[in-house]
Amino acid sequence: MSLNAKFEALSFDEAEAALRAPEDAARPRTLVVFAGNELAMSERVKALLKEAQAQIERAAGATKFKGKAGSALEILAPVGVAASRLLVIGVGAGNSDDSDKPAKFEDYLSLGGQTAGKLAVGAAAVVLFDLPEAPSEPAAAAAQFALGGWLRAYKFDQYKTKKKDEDKDGPIEIQLGVADAESAKAHVLEATHTAEAVVLARTLVNEPANVLSPTEFARRASELMKLGVEVEILDEKAMAELGMRALLGVGQGSENESRLVVLRWNGGAAGAAPVAFVGKGVVFDTGGISIKPAASMEDMKGDMAGAAAVTGALYAIAARKAKANVVGVLGLVENMPDGKAQRPGDIVKSMSGQTIEVINTDAEGRLVLADALTYVIEKHKPAAVVDLATLTGAILVALGQEYAGLFSNNDDLSERLTKAGTATGEKLWRFPMGPYYDKLIDSKFADMKNTGGRHGGSITAAQFLHRFVGKTPWAHLDIAGTGMGSPSSDVNQSWGSGFGVRLLDRLVKDHYEG
Ligand code: BES
Ligand code: MN
Ligand code: ZN
Repeated sequence: MSLNAKFEALSFDEAEAALRAPEDAARPRTLVVFAGNELAMSERVKALLKEAQAQIERAAGATKFKGKAGSALEILAPVGVAASRLLVIGVGAGNSDDSDKPAKFEDYLSLGGQTAGKLAVGAAAVVLFDLPEAPSEPAAAAAQFALGGWLRAYKFDQYKTKKKDEDKDGPIEIQLGVADAESAKAHVLEATHTAEAVVLARTLVNEPANVLSPTEFARRASELMKLGVEVEILDEKAMAELGMRALLGVGQGSENESRLVVLRWNGGAAGAAPVAFVGKGVVFDTGGISIKPAASMEDMKGDMAGAAAVTGALYAIAARKAKANVVGVLGLVENMPDGKAQRPGDIVKSMSGQTIEVINTDAEGRLVLADALTYVIEKHKPAAVVDLATLTGAILVALGQEYAGLFSNNDDLSERLTKAGTATGEKLWRFPMGPYYDKLIDSKFADMKNTGGRHGGSITAAQFLHRFVGKTPWAHLDIAGTGMGSPSSDVNQSWGSGFGVRLLDRLVKDHYEG
């Protein structure tokens, strides 16, 4: 997982010294500074740009740049600075709804993304992270800034054989001048792991299904062993012995065998109950015999975004050696139509012993999750379990692509997740659950059926999962709208977003450590 940007945390003095060194003609330098409303700048930045002041004011006047958040001013050949380009990034009020509030943690993430977006591939830059209003935790804010830059710079282009010239220039190199360089170095290092974790998840989502079969996914997940993660892979025989007929039924029409991957990070007290994450890993979802229409079916290579998020989260947690016990389970299958495929009307017995009438073979994710949830709860007795799944198209109808749906049997867990979502910008919106919705999945022939009709489709899917978790505190995140095909943002230009990685890592950091 190589990152397309390099950040080096320096003191302000070191960053200014770097600026006094002559510029490399082959790698022209950009100086990045920040301005608030009406071009407000820190004293240090003002002093540094004294000779360019008239130039800046003239350019600002000509482009009506006032320092608003989200805007930027570009000046070529600024007078008196050894940089070919000066970028003044606006951080002032006047752009967002809560613009009168001080900048929040996630604002520095977007700021890093915006800045990286303005730097060409292969560029060299000196950033003076000396804002007109200093952040309360400058080192942590600087690391968020770097993280935003890494996330922005990610590109999935390994299948493009004709690269543009600028794409051969290597990563952006950024020297980041900060108030407390020592502390920032440590924070930036930790942010590197987070960036690698998100990038890992994005790449898994972006990979086509002819490359990323369940076994190949399992192989990639098992590389987490290098970080000290225990990896166990259950093949079809092992799953059959456990009675996982719900999961196996989904994969039975595919030439590619199904796998269940168990990832364990034991960083907490020995014997303490872990927190469990379960991911839907349908490497391709044709719908099976209830086949999907052709339009956009290619997007269903991303139907493993939940499993990708869980893999990324375990990467982040292990890389920073979190003092927590975490177990991740990936239910990896391919849903294909075939002579051996399961049919509508089939009745399967799940590992829990409950029977399921398969009304629609395209409602396959819940079948996979049912057995994965039973497995992790029986085997690992987790204190809490969170599953992530691109489960329903209906969640896109309800929430669009801004929030993921949250469904839970536990108010505390819901609140923890919601807060982690706000903090990371991976936002969640809780839906109602209850007996009314549960009744909709009662079956004429079995204990339940796998669809609940047109109404409340995301909720009936969650009710189905709820029947497999017993009293364990559980939450289900429907990421069908946020895990893939996301609109481009400051921190993501990739089809696979990696949604959930930072959220789960944050949840662990805030509630399951130490
Ligand atoms: N993987 C799909 C859900 C999905 C749809 C994810 C669009 C991302 C974008 C899931 O397996 C599915 O097909 N769900 C059905 C359920 C229905 C048959 C009850 C759906 O949402 O239509
Ligand atoms: Mn489906
Ligand atoms: Zn699916």
